[in-house]
Amino acid sequence: MLPFWLLACFLAQSWAAPEQVHLAFHDGPLDLSVAWITFNDVDSILSYGTSLSSLVKKTGDIKKWVFGGITRYSHRVRLHDLKPSTQYYYQIESRIFHFKTLPANPKSYKVCIYGDLGIENGVSTTSIINQGLAGQFDFVVHVGDLAYDLHTDNGKRGDKFMNLMEPLISTMPYMVIAGNHEDDGKNFSNYQTRFYMPHNGYGDNQFYSVDIGPVHWLGISTEFYGFDREYGTASIQTQYNWLQNDLKTAEANRKNVPWISTFQHRPMYCSIEYGNECTDFTSDFIRVGDRGLPGLEPTFLKYSIDFGFWGHMHAYERMYPVADRKYYASNSAYHNPVAPVYVLTGSAGCHTPGAKFSNKPTAWSAFRSDDYGYTIMTVANMTHVRLQQVSVSKNGAFIDDIWVSKDPGHIHTATMRENTPHGEIPNKSRYLLENNEIH
Ligand SMILES: *[C@@H]1O[C@H](CO)[C@@H](O)[C@H](O)[C@H]1NC(C)=O
Ligand SMILES: *[C@@H]1O[C@H](CO)[C@@H](O)[C@H](O)[C@H]1NC(C)=O
Ligand SMILES: *[C@@H]1O[C@H](CO)[C@@H](O)[C@H](O)[C@H]1NC(C)=O
Ligand SMILES: [Fe+2]
Repeated sequence: MLPFWLLACFLAQSWAAPEQVHLAFHDGPLDLSVAWITFNDVDSILSYGTSLSSLVKKTGDIKKWVFGGITRYSHRVRLHDLKPSTQYYYQIESRIFHFKTLPANPKSYKVCIYGDLGIENGVSTTSIINQGLAGQFDFVVHVGDLAYDLHTDNGKRGDKFMNLMEPLISTMPYMVIAGNHEDDGKNFSNYQTRFYMPHNGYGDNQFYSVDIGPVHWLGISTEFYGFDREYGTASIQTQYNWLQNDLKTAEANRKNVPWISTFQHRPMYCSIEYGNECTDFTSDFIRVGDRGLPGLEPTFLKYSIDFGFWGHMHAYERMYPVADRKYYASNSAYHNPVAPVYVLTGSAGCHTPGAKFSNKPTAWSAFRSDDYGYTIMTVANMTHVRLQQVSVSKNGAFIDDIWVSKDPGHIHTATMRENTPHGEIPNKSRYLLENNEIH
C-alpha cells in the first residue's frame, strides 16, 4: 500500500487544475481557440455549449515542452462553428468559463489596444480587466512585451502573468504579437508555445491576419528585424512575401472590409526625444529595409493601410498621417487621410520607467502623453473609427479622443500625397535633444 503522503501527492498532481486559460480569434469572429496550460500530462479536452446542462466534448492538441527544467503541457482546442451573438459556457476539468460571441459580421465593436504590460508596475492591469469585464470592449490586442518576461524565473513569470489576466482573457479574445522581450534565447519558444494565433501557413505565431467585421487585422513581427543576427534574416523575407499575398487578398475584398489595421511591436515612427530608439537603426530597418531585405512601409503605402499600432516606447503618441517621412497635418487630416495613421501605445506599464517626452511640441505629432494607459478603438462602421486614450494615471479619463473617417471607397495614394501640403519629419538626431538626461 502507498504511504498516505505519496498518495496525496499523486492525487494533487493528477488533479492539478488547468490554468492560464485564454481565447483568441482564429478564422473570424465565430472561430475561437481556447488555450491553457497544465503541468501534468492530461488530454486536451473541454466541454462547451450554450447552456451548462448541455455541454458537448471537444478535443484538441497538446504540446509538451520543457523550459528551465519545468515541463509544461500547452493545450489548444478550436471552436470553429460558433453561433453569432450567443452566450457560451466551457468547462476544462472542473473549471467553468464563459464568453459571448460577436455577430457573424459585426458592424461595430470595440478593441482595447496596448503594448508593454508586465507584472511589476503593471499599472493598467486592473483597469483593463475591470473595464473589459464591464463590457467596455470586445477583445484585446497586446502589441508585444508581455509579462516581462514570459520566460523569467523558468517561465513562472509568464505563468503568473497569464493567470493574472485569465479572468478577462478567458472571456474574450486576447490577440498577441511578439516584442523584443519575448525572445527567450530559444527563438521565442515561450511565446510560440503559450499562444495560438490564426494560421499563417508557416506553423508560427509571429505574423497573421483575421477579418473582424469591417477591419482586416494584421499582426506583424518586428522581431525578425530586431533579432536577425540571432535567428537569421530568412524570416524577414518569408513574412514579406506572405504580407504581399495577404494584402492582395485584402485589397480584392476591400469593398466588404474597408479598414486595414496593422499591429506590431516596434515603431517605425515616434518622437520621444530621450533615448534614441525612435531614430535608431532598427526603426529604419523595419520601415525601409536594409542589405536588400525589405522594410514594411512601401507595402503599407501600396495597399493603403489605415492604421498601425505599436509599442516598445513606453508612452502614447498619435501621429498625423505619415508616409515616407512626410507628415500631413491639418484640421481635416483624419478625414480621408492621405497616409496611414500610426499610434504608439506602449504605456500600459512595466518595470522600466515611462518614456518621457520633452515639452517642445513636435509638428508631426498630434498628441503626446507619458501617462500610463491604453487605447480604446471603436469601429463604428465602414466609414468611422474612434480612437480614445485612457489615462490610468488620471483615473481612467480619456485624454485623447478623435474620429478617423473616410468616404466609401477612399484609399490613399502617392498622387494624393503630392497634392496635399506637408512637412518633413527631421532626420535622425535632428530632433534628439543634445543631452539625454533621462534614461
Ligand atoms: C526561428 O523561428 C522562425 C519561425 O518563427 C524560423 O523560421 C527560423 O528558422 C527559426 N530560426 C532558428 C535559427 O531556429
Ligand atoms: C457611421 O458612424 C458614424 C459615427 O457614429 C455616424 O455618424 C455615421 O452616420 C455612421 N454611418 C453609417 C452609414 O451608419
Ligand atoms: C534624410 O535622410 C535621408 C535618408 O537617410 C536622405 O535621403 C535625405 O536627404 C535626408 N534629408 C535631409 C534633409 O537631410
Ligand atoms: Fe519592447
